[in-house]
Amino acid sequence: MENEHLLKATENFVKSVLEGESSGHDWWHIHRVRNLALMIAKSEGADLFVVELAALLHDIDDWKLIEAGGEEQKTKTWLRNCNVGENVAERICNIIEGVSFKGAGVNTSTNDIECKALQDADRLDAIGAVGIARTFAYGGNRGRGIYDPEIQPEMHTDFENYKKSNAPTINHFYEKLLLLKDQMQTKMGRNLAEQRHDFMILFLNQFYDEWNGKLL
Ligand code: NI
Repeated sequence: MENEHLLKATENFVKSVLEGESSGHDWWHIHRVRNLALMIAKSEGADLFVVELAALLHDIDDWKLIEAGGEEQKTKTWLRNCNVGENVAERICNIIEGVSFKGAGVNTSTNDIECKALQDADRLDAIGAVGIARTFAYGGNRGRGIYDPEIQPEMHTDFENYKKSNAPTINHFYEKLLLLKDQMQTKMGRNLAEQRHDFMILFLNQFYDEWNGKLL
């Protein structure tokens, strides 16, 4: 398949898999991440085809969705069915593997420029106003509470404990979202993260003020 056709077919495939997804990993997340990743990839001189294909497929086998009842290995099977060469397929799977956040104390930095572009794009979509909306959608989807002042945030140093966490959604800001700004791996990612980060701080301050009755 030619690159352009492969991308279009993959887009349709991903749309069909993520249809009705309600934990913040729906098609529109993929759409935003693809656009951000391409923008960053251009500014970094990365391989645009590889970045776009990886962006489209990056959440198809995500552990969060698999734990919620999905199957593994959809990415590999799809690429094989499209007759994508083994090298490219492996490259895509490696990039996707490197993208996921695995806990506050787990290092996921990379030297791979295509992976950097996608990782920054995915993390930008996890912060700011969209990030806030997605975080509460995810929490609700997993049956988590909104906030409990008696449960303190935890800095997870290994992926297994991070995965098991069932803390209220507000804790997720401290366990992940507020840390992302300083983990951006490209210049553009760092610039775009600043404003989104500040907006989350603004949101949290207002949230606590309302919670504590300071705005009466
Ligand atoms: Ni994602």
